[in-house]
Amino acid sequence: MIVVGPPFVVRATLLLAIIHPPMPYQLSLPFPSRDVPTTSPGPNRCDHQHRLLNLAFNKRAGSYARAAVVQRRLAAWLAEWLEPAARVDDRSAVEVGAGDGLFTKYLAPRFRQLSAIDVSPCMVDKGRLRLPRVAWRVGDAWQLDGEPVDRLYSASLLHWCDAPVSVLRHWRRLTKPGGRMLHGFYVAPTLAEWHSIAGAYSPVNWRSPSQWEACFREAGWRVLRGEAKRHVQQFASARELVRFFHLTGAITPLQMPIANLRRLIGDYQRKFASPIGAPAVTSTWTFFRIEAASR
Ligand SMILES: C[S@@+](CC[C@H](N)C(=O)[O-])C[C@H]1O[C@@H](n2cnc3c(N)ncnc32)[C@H](O)[C@@H]1O
Repeated sequence: MIVVGPPFVVRATLLLAIIHPPMPYQLSLPFPSRDVPTTSPGPNRCDHQHRLLNLAFNKRAGSYARAAVVQRRLAAWLAEWLEPAARVDDRSAVEVGAGDGLFTKYLAPRFRQLSAIDVSPCMVDKGRLRLPRVAWRVGDAWQLDGEPVDRLYSASLLHWCDAPVSVLRHWRRLTKPGGRMLHGFYVAPTLAEWHSIAGAYSPVNWRSPSQWEACFREAGWRVLRGEAKRHVQQFASARELVRFFHLTGAITPLQMPIANLRRLIGDYQRKFASPIGAPAVTSTWTFFRIEAASR
């Protein structure tokens, strides 16, 4: 899903289909090539990108559960910090960017009043099928509305947030006095391998753990604890890694000529082949979990 004129997309798709019949994705990359400008996008382009990103998640709702190997690991790690059910059972909770319920499944047995919100209607449909007792609805996490709750959660979402301080400040108003939040997402350095071959530009403004903690504090939250963890994920090949990005919806709609895409995949395969075991490539992520309380 690269933003180019329709004839080019059609030509490019056909070309890929001919050259690489089994390649089930088209022209999408999470971290574009050197050809993409390194200046930061203006607000309009950001909005446009967000809309396309949301569409991408929507389109991938069917493949997400199977493909989201990294997100599954992060969700399980984040769940280690959940309070015991006996302590929160009578509290109200909301999860934003809930997707199809990968992390919601850890929350559902703990809360009698749990809402799960996602901007993608298809993800919400999947979530509702998976966890029907949860109150699912379509909504934008950055402009959340509703009654204040005791607990607010998210998994694999916050790294996409362009304006964390204002969003976190907004979430304070949606949390009751004594309320808490728990979030898990990705921080710098994440996918450094991609950056090293695809250029400096990234659609995600990767922040460090201390920058994130500062955002929470600036927004008026008391940080209770935060922890980062390096996660190495192997994929059978560089193409499989790109396929993972595509199937989990984690792509950005930026231009990439086919030749660049193929060169990038080839470079990645050569440079980041796993040193041991079966043929594979390595990708490195930094998971971050943070718990905060309203003052
Ligand atoms: C990587 S998925 C994570 C889903 C789930 N939390 C998990 O751990 O698997 C990111 C999800 O956030 C949703 N999302 C992205 N931006 C959003 C926004 N502004 N408001 C609500 N949901 C959003 C996407 O539709 C997608 O379902």
